[in-house]
Amino acid sequence: MSKSIVSVAVAGALLALGSTAAIAAPDWGKVAKRDIHVFHAGVTPIEWMTKKSDHSGSAGMRKGESCAGCHEEKGSLNFNFKRLADKELEPKGAPKTMTFPVSTQVAYDAANLYIRLTFKAPAGGADKGDKDNEVKATLLFADAKVPQADQYGCWQTCHTDARSMPGADDKKTKYSKDGAYELVQWASKGNKVSDGSVGAERKMSGGSAGAKVEASKSGDTYTVTFTRKNPGDGKVVPFGIAIHADNASGRFHHVSLGYKLGVGADGDLKATKQ
Ligand code: HEC
Repeated sequence: MSKSIVSVAVAGALLALGSTAAIAAPDWGKVAKRDIHVFHAGVTPIEWMTKKSDHSGSAGMRKGESCAGCHEEKGSLNFNFKRLADKELEPKGAPKTMTFPVSTQVAYDAANLYIRLTFKAPAGGADKGDKDNEVKATLLFADAKVPQADQYGCWQTCHTDARSMPGADDKKTKYSKDGAYELVQWASKGNKVSDGSVGAERKMSGGSAGAKVEASKSGDTYTVTFTRKNPGDGKVVPFGIAIHADNASGRFHHVSLGYKLGVGADGDLKATKQ
């Protein structure tokens, strides 16, 4: 198997970290894969989503429909991307690839939840604001106090007045009005893991997930495996994925809709017991 220079560097960093050796890795061959399609959502914060004149789905949202319930069809997304690729919803310019699949596997044991993402990060981005990191992968897990978290996924953190939205204050991070999300991020430079939160503001550290990450690149495919504390048997946790590809920063990520992750319980994704 031919491995790129990048993957060798990543493997080196893993060895240096050492602590990862303490974790018993799941047998991924026995864990079901589910494609979650991420997409470039442009400037469509929660305020846009819930406004009738902007989003035809807003009435259905109020009736309790979820984003994925309306927009995921046959395992893929039903957007035509005309508005999302247009100046109307993306004034700076949209990436060449509007959507791509992230193969997602989830396993758990008494101590931990393991989430493995496998994806090709597309080139052709319109914003290369993060000079340091070619790629970042982020997971958000909503707590029980986030309203409609199981319907709206990460959109409760995405606001029109937050950093990198047109005309917004550069220092105002993403936030959640009620409740909070755990934020876990892998950044390619130095194979770094962040364990933070999105509550009244976004914090990149001080989180409670106990996150660890392992990542490798083979050809053009990234495999990123997160380990975090088991949130509790029988729990259904709303979660979402964001990938910053091609040195993208801020809102120029590809994001998933919201999904329910079942740990010893049913969900859109059911974690496999190890
Ligand atoms: C009740 C069904 C319904 C729900 C729930 C819903 N939408 Fe929509 N959404 C629609 C319809 C209908 C359109 C317009 C279709 C079109 O433009 O092709 C649309 C348009 C969009 C667009 C514009 C892209 C496009 O195709 O024009 C985005 C982005 C979007 N929805 C995201 C979301 C997200 C994120 C959520 C959850 C926060 C959500 N939607 C919830 C029905 C829904």
